[in-house]
Amino acid sequence: MAETTARELKLIQYLNEAYGKERQLEPVLTLQITLAKSLDRKTIADRLQEHLKETRGQAKALERRIKQLGGKAQTGPDLPGPDLASNAVGALTAVANQALSAAKGPVQALRGTSPNDNLLRNLRDSYWNEAEEIAHYHVIEAVAEQLGDKDTVKLAKDHRRQEERMQAFIEKQIPIVVKEVIKAEVPKEDRPQTTTRRRSSSSGTSSRSRSTSSRAKTKTAASRSTSSSRSKSTTSRSRAKAKS
Ligand SMILES: [Fe+2]
Repeated sequence: MAETTARELKLIQYLNEAYGKERQLEPVLTLQITLAKSLDRKTIADRLQEHLKETRGQAKALERRIKQLGGKAQTGPDLPGPDLASNAVGALTAVANQALSAAKGPVQALRGTSPNDNLLRNLRDSYWNEAEEIAHYHVIEAVAEQLGDKDTVKLAKDHRRQEERMQAFIEKQIPIVVKEVIKAEVPKEDRPQTTTRRRSSSSGTSSRSRSTSSRAKTKTAASRSTSSSRSKSTTSRSRAKAKS
């Protein structure tokens, strides 16, 4: 087997860090699916399930690419690399993955002041995790582009798009779940919704009517000025006639 070059080692290093992240997220997603299901959140559970499938696929694709480049996919310090070069990569990856294990893990799936608050916190973490994955793939894409590795560029782009789609989904779910949290945890009398809605709708109307009335005022002022300038010009014309 040909010796692994510094170029390949660099690519393997970043690919392995993304691999570690994807593998770390598999149990997190599994727990989040269970939670979403227990709350009858079918839309969220289904999307998480779909993303779990994507995540597993990404891990496999990363593993494949790392192997093609002469390395070995690793998630932690316990897995030895195939040779000295890959061990060097493995050591770097180990540091990265130790940091990752301190990140948002399964324990995070079990907290909160109510089931929906728990779900909301998990969605917040998921958003955060997607952002981290997107960052990984941006880095990989740039490294691969500058090192002329088209296959890795394509892989990074494909994975990044999947993460971005997932992140956009989470973003849309946040206000929906927030509504449920407020409903469950803030007594009706402490919620401003009804008054706010009435106020905002009435303020909407009043601002509309204000703007209508201001438009009317402007029109009136404009017509006043037109008519006054018209009458002025009429006066000056009659004065001129009188003089002649
Ligand atoms: Fe993801």
